[in-house]
Amino acid sequence: MTRIFSGVKPTGHLTLGNYLGAVCRWAEVDQHRAEALFCIVDLHALTVDHDPGRVRRLSRQAATLLLASGLDPELCTVFVQSHVDEHARLSYLLECVATDGEMRRMIQYKEKAALERKRGGSVRLSLLTYPVLMAADILAYGTDEVPVGDDQTQHVELTRDLAVRFNQRYGHTFVVPRATRPEVAARVMNLQEPTSKMGKSDDVGPGVVYLLDEPGTVRKKIMRAVTDSGQDVEYDPQERPGVSNLLEILAACEGGDPEVLSGRYTSYGALKKDTADAVVELLGPVQDRHKQLCADPSYVEGVLRDGARRAREMARPTVDSAYEAIGLLAPS
Ligand code: TYM
Repeated sequence: MTRIFSGVKPTGHLTLGNYLGAVCRWAEVDQHRAEALFCIVDLHALTVDHDPGRVRRLSRQAATLLLASGLDPELCTVFVQSHVDEHARLSYLLECVATDGEMRRMIQYKEKAALERKRGGSVRLSLLTYPVLMAADILAYGTDEVPVGDDQTQHVELTRDLAVRFNQRYGHTFVVPRATRPEVAARVMNLQEPTSKMGKSDDVGPGVVYLLDEPGTVRKKIMRAVTDSGQDVEYDPQERPGVSNLLEILAACEGGDPEVLSGRYTSYGALKKDTADAVVELLGPVQDRHKQLCADPSYVEGVLRDGARRAREMARPTVDSAYEAIGLLAPS
């Protein structure tokens, strides 16, 4: 059976970008067609300046939101990365296969390191080695497919390279995975800066729709979205990023095609209104379920405990065989 692995990092509140680019596909498609694992990758949240209490709260919230979005623990495994030691164990072995040049070429590293330096901070070594830990997340489970938004493609490519290199040097150990992306909304843009990705920790907060935003806030953010000069509603992400972003969001909510949708509109106002309505309608049930789940924290804790146990059982044989293949003496 196909094995799927993906994750979300608790560095901020989950956004509409996370939902449309990843989470809704995990819930609607992936968990039904494969053996799927979805992970709150809390170790990755320690790679930039962080507040310990906030990371813990965001991890709990992310887990609750994944379940509220429809991930069903009867169908898939939902767990927290730091609860399964195999991720860190394997990451070290992969560090012995990866090169520092490869790490320095990663776009996300360059962007995040530049941001840290601009803020006057220093760059944590773990930010440089981030993609190796991500590769360990994926390879530990014999993953075939990694459903992610566009921004993670380079990391999955690196994961493939590391798997192939390890297998060539030390014998076949890892499945070589591939990234899968959604047909629309693979890169939802910031509503105020439609040439940049909508991110959890964006400085341009009014351009980010969070999954837990009140309907009034969602409407306000979408109605105030920056559009392009010109009047025509055209789908052209290069020339008209603002309008194209709204068309992508609407298409993802309705399950349509952004180019076809553009023919329906003669004004930006009508497009914004329909997009706002569609997003509010999409998020309503998620927010209702989130509220119910928050009233029963022991349920979420139980899901995570059970998830970690299952994940450990799945990861251990692969990681143990990697230890042996690379030349480490098994404990007697
Ligand atoms: P993270 O937490 O930034 O994002 C989680 C998922 O959401 C997607 N995404 C988006 N999709 C479309 N438009 C956007 N604006 C947008 N913003 C985020 C991301 O592509 C991702 O699929 N490094 C990963 C976490 C990770 C991981 C893994 C993922 C760690 N280990 C192993 C897959 C497999 C990250 O920071 O995702």
